[in-house]
Amino acid sequence: MSDSVEITSVLKEDRVFPPPADFGARSGGAHVGSLEEYRAMHKRSLDDPAGFWGEVASELDWFEPWTEVCEWKLPDAKWFLGGKTNICHNCVDRQVDQGHGDQVAILWESETTDSQGAPEIRRLTYADLKRETAKLANVLEGLGVKKGDVVTIYMGMVPELAIAILACARIGAVHSVIFGGFSSQAIADRVEDADSSVVLTCDGSWRRGTIIPLKANVDQACKLSDKIKSVLVLTRCQNAIEWQDGRDHRWGELVADASDVRPCEPMDSEDMLFLLYTSGSTGKPKGIVHTTGGYMVYTYLTSKLTFNLRPDEDQVYWCTADIGWITGHSYIVYGLLPNRVPTLMYEGAPNHPAPNRFWDIVERHKVTHFYTAPTAIRAFMKWGDEHVEKHDLSSLQVLGTVGEPINPEAWIWYRDVIGAGRCPIVDTWWQTETGGHMLTPLPGATPTVPGSCTLPFFGIDAAVVDQDGNELPANTGGLLAIRKPWPSMLRGIFGDRERFVETYFTKIKGMYFPGDGARRDERGYFWIMGRVDDVINVAGHRLGTMEVESAIASHDSVVEAAVVGMPHEIKGTAIAAFVTLAGDLEPSDELRQALRDHVAQAIGAIAKPDMIRFCDALPKTRSGKIMRRLLRDIAAGTDSGQDVTTLEDLTVLARLRGDEE
Ligand code: WT7
Repeated sequence: MSDSVEITSVLKEDRVFPPPADFGARSGGAHVGSLEEYRAMHKRSLDDPAGFWGEVASELDWFEPWTEVCEWKLPDAKWFLGGKTNICHNCVDRQVDQGHGDQVAILWESETTDSQGAPEIRRLTYADLKRETAKLANVLEGLGVKKGDVVTIYMGMVPELAIAILACARIGAVHSVIFGGFSSQAIADRVEDADSSVVLTCDGSWRRGTIIPLKANVDQACKLSDKIKSVLVLTRCQNAIEWQDGRDHRWGELVADASDVRPCEPMDSEDMLFLLYTSGSTGKPKGIVHTTGGYMVYTYLTSKLTFNLRPDEDQVYWCTADIGWITGHSYIVYGLLPNRVPTLMYEGAPNHPAPNRFWDIVERHKVTHFYTAPTAIRAFMKWGDEHVEKHDLSSLQVLGTVGEPINPEAWIWYRDVIGAGRCPIVDTWWQTETGGHMLTPLPGATPTVPGSCTLPFFGIDAAVVDQDGNELPANTGGLLAIRKPWPSMLRGIFGDRERFVETYFTKIKGMYFPGDGARRDERGYFWIMGRVDDVINVAGHRLGTMEVESAIASHDSVVEAAVVGMPHEIKGTAIAAFVTLAGDLEPSDELRQALRDHVAQAIGAIAKPDMIRFCDALPKTRSGKIMRRLLRDIAAGTDSGQDVTTLEDLTVLARLRGDEE
């Protein structure tokens, strides 16, 4: 954790927006229709978790029933013990079995458009998904993949990416999806950590009219790690790629020849479903472990209730995240398909070919549920209302936001300009580790307040506490804590038990600590005040400051680097780096650019510092800790006149502010 918990800003926000009176009537009925109903259900979910979750789990198919709903031996939770199921079965085969095989499961739109400006559209039904996941499952087995093996997936947003994760689940292989914005070094690091020998990729992926060379990045990763034995390559962009016979395989050819029969493997409820790497406050990214049964039940229920999904009401749900992040895992694929509402996947950028692209998509497909990030909302605001006003957005019913705190101004704009004042906004707080929504309004029940993620979901016992775990009074900033286990909680950090216990269960005794600061207001509503560790959220992408620091410091010209977050109008937080140079090297713009490129190579373009300042030394406390708080203030301030800040300047500043220990 950083020097101390700094939670000072208390935002005053009095505007309260009750759920629209006609929400139930317009949406085919609200699953949870009032705050009283929410409170009664929430109380029951905490008083009788076995009864509550047992009933929810019974809405899905199990090959063998569980014998116990939850076992909690802090910090280890197990859910639906002894139960056997398969999440691909519940996403796909179950829908076919129940006679819905010809309904649209995935609705996909390309970024590329034809000469008339029309995108390519693909509609995959549940029957299509059953056939395609079975075929790909057989291909994977043909490549030697067995139950429990980790399959790495590095692809663009094409339907085959969803098919790939479902095919892994079908045979009980563990998937590890790596976002396409990460570098070959990042692929190699993850492949090594997970001991994964099979990689699924595309020749490239389309982003803002250009091709991201995914296959070339995998080729490079193969040079950095000798773990990778097979690469399955989907052709998407028809770009030139290198080929290594024996290692590389053509997706299209193998799938065409594969049998379309492969039953879903019965999986133990606690068998690993996937790994997803995310940044922590120290060291390399950690592989967050999620298992089958609890994750399946929790993402199913949160999808259903947070968005008020109803399969027979012509809903079209669109989450704009990439499947490379947890949001895409839980709220494009796994939580959505069991609810039998079409899930829209869009391949590319929000402003390609023009800044109205998202609204064009909403209008074309009559999207009813739209889920995006504050950073995107702030970009839309900046691009101007005229791009929105061109389109008929009257199909929209529920608007969601996720990834970082949303500023009230953006919240109000989202509500008024996108939602025309009719649509409830669900501000969902959760994390890679939590698997699903933890704090969120329910659209037909919870009055919303701009900037607050409101109240805990069912089964979630959340509190704001001090470091000893004592609950704090209303409107006092403290640590967010979760006091009881929930079905989709992480089961560990892959291969690092100690880091798991230390990161999540040591800071506050006996409770899960997510790393966020928060306060609760007099209504009991939660206000997230941002990370209190050395993790930053840059345009909704999670990065560790130390991870970026070591990337910069690995450059030959650098002696030492310190990285902090700084406020940014669109990104929420941007990356500021303070760097000391080796020998008599002089600061220059070329060097700045070289360092930015170096970070892009080590981690990915998303981690490039937005600002680099050169110093002759970094300010440290007497015990040698970098004074990050001081650097944060400097980065946030305007005094960026000079090129080199002397240690003396910084020390004086620190002393003036009383920072020196
Ligand atoms: C961190 C988790 C959850 C999927 C996307 C991010 C921040 C997330 C909110 C929100 C305020 C939020 C927290 C959290 N965060 N949602 N609604 N309001 N902050 O997942 O990459 O694991 O990041 O994102 O700081 O700890 P992630």
